[in-house]
Amino acid sequence: MSLALLSLAALCWGAATPEPTTQCGSETGPSPEWMVQHALTPGDLRDLRVQPVKTNIATEDHSILMNISWILRADASIRLLKATKICVTGKSNFQSYSCVRCNYTDAFQSQTRPSGGKWTFSYIGFPIELNTLYLIGAHNIPTANMNEDGPSMSVNFTSPGCLDHIMKYKKKCIQEGSLWDPNITACKKNEKTVELNFTTSPLGNRYMALIQNNTIIGFSEVLENKVKRTSVVIPVTGESEGAVVQLIPYFHTCGNDCIRRKGTVVLCPQTGVPVPPDNNRSMFRGWLPVLLLALLVAAWVLAAGIFLLWRHERIKKTSFSTTTLLPPIKVLVVYPSEICFHHTVCYFTEFLQNHCRSKVILEKWQKKKIAEMGPVQWLATQKKAAEKVIFLLSNHASAMCNGACGKNQGSPSENSQDLFPLAFNFFCSDLRSQTHLHKYMVVYFRKADTKDDYSALNVCPTYHLMTDATAFRKELLHIKQQVSVGKISQD
Ligand SMILES: *[C@@H]1O[C@H](CO)[C@@H](O)[C@H](O)[C@H]1NC(C)=O
Ligand SMILES: *[C@@H]1O[C@H](CO)[C@@H](O)[C@H](O)[C@H]1NC(C)=O
Ligand SMILES: *[C@@H]1O[C@H](CO)[C@@H](O)[C@H](O)[C@H]1NC(C)=O
Ligand SMILES: *[C@@H]1O[C@H](CO)[C@@H](O)[C@H](O)[C@H]1NC(C)=O
Ligand SMILES: *[C@@H]1O[C@H](CO)[C@@H](O)[C@H](O)[C@H]1NC(C)=O
Ligand SMILES: *[C@@H]1O[C@H](CO)[C@@H](O)[C@H](O)[C@H]1NC(C)=O
Repeated sequence: MSLALLSLAALCWGAATPEPTTQCGSETGPSPEWMVQHALTPGDLRDLRVQPVKTNIATEDHSILMNISWILRADASIRLLKATKICVTGKSNFQSYSCVRCNYTDAFQSQTRPSGGKWTFSYIGFPIELNTLYLIGAHNIPTANMNEDGPSMSVNFTSPGCLDHIMKYKKKCIQEGSLWDPNITACKKNEKTVELNFTTSPLGNRYMALIQNNTIIGFSEVLENKVKRTSVVIPVTGESEGAVVQLIPYFHTCGNDCIRRKGTVVLCPQTGVPVPPDNNRSMFRGWLPVLLLALLVAAWVLAAGIFLLWRHERIKKTSFSTTTLLPPIKVLVVYPSEICFHHTVCYFTEFLQNHCRSKVILEKWQKKKIAEMGPVQWLATQKKAAEKVIFLLSNHASAMCNGACGKNQGSPSENSQDLFPLAFNFFCSDLRSQTHLHKYMVVYFRKADTKDDYSALNVCPTYHLMTDATAFRKELLHIKQQVSVGKISQD
């Protein structure tokens, strides 16, 4: 009985001096204590830290929050401390500002915890966006009086991008492939080829693999609908051991700005154990069916080729089907300098050359000629030579802009002059005449800009490459057909 009373007394005593905890709530305006004069105010914080944390409580995109932790200074002024206020300013495309106030549930009775350590608290809140600078400031309440500089503490926190081990769980990152593990393995098979294996993603079906050793020494496009381990053999033009493999995915949501992956080319394990001589005959016998099969396939391909050629001759006059037998279409591509050369122009050029039977004229590949002729003369010459002039526009300013394509190295920083406004003005008069208009096309990578400076281009046929690739290709190849038909009828 007396024992029970004793423990009850102990409980009551424990309840009388509880350890303070925090109760936090939003307080974006000034604190009420600000309006009142205080003879004495608490000191500042000893330390303030910010860490991103992934919480499972909050749903979806707000699941990554700040864990703001602070340590109180162990001095006598702690007895005056009622609350700590934390304000966060986020600086990205737009500025955000919000504050929380954390009340201490009880007055502090001692400068340190009963267990001996410093008073430490943390607050989990404030959703974190990608690649954003946050200014986090904290001060104790009651604050200093109105005309005094209150002690406060601030830290900066820059949130990482999608490659971070926590940020990768953001919805936007997941859509760009942050959780995709391609598990790239690549090896040098011989002087001329590299074998690349990777696991494809369910987010898309097209990939570009580049082998780079300062310059691009090989590349290959990979199309794969299923999620599986894929193997490609890529021809290379230089020493590939130690070179970098860059895997560029083209997913539906991020187009050509998805998260790229890298790997390294190592030497292939040597499996070619020399064949013992007495095995040669059986080896040959083993190869015989394969040889026969290869011959059979070759004969079949030849027959199919002849058939297709014959059929093509028959349908040539009525269909717009593309054949490699037709001469290439000369296309002049002009683009504003803010466009990301590698991501956008290279990709588009490659598309034109590989899928649209085009010969592309790019300002970047003719720097020397432009310097010799002068830009206006060069444009006049190209205008005459080109069958199509394409204005390539992109409303997407990419943060990750790197690498080079084909013929020449190129990065946006190296752009000596922007030919685009000149070309635009030079071709502008043509846009007003129906007879010349057919020569011009506008291609956007994504949905069109509304705040367009080049409204004169509105009269041209406009395509969005991510959605209208087929229509665009048809239009481009169609014109060629019309021209040749026209020529025939003139004869
Ligand atoms: C904290 O204390 C202030 C002043 O007493 C009060 O206005 C506010 O509602 C309290 N906040 C929370 C979250 O309890
Ligand atoms: C928040 O940070 C504090 C101090 O670093 C730590 O003790 C606490 O466990 C963290 N909370 C979470 C949910 O990570
Ligand atoms: C935080 O960033 C701002 C803006 O860039 C800068 O003015 C300030 O000095 C930084 N503060 C700290 C503590 O690094
Ligand atoms: C990556 O691929 C290699 C070779 O196929 C395999 O041994 C390894 O387990 C894979 N790793 C992961 C994380 O899937
Ligand atoms: C790629 O996969 C093939 C077939 O699974 C395997 O034989 C080869 O060793 C792999 N190569 C690399 C570089 O992982
Ligand atoms: C890159 O290529 C050059 C020229 O082909 C070669 O000399 C060099 O060794 C290569 N570097 C690497 C890291 O393979």
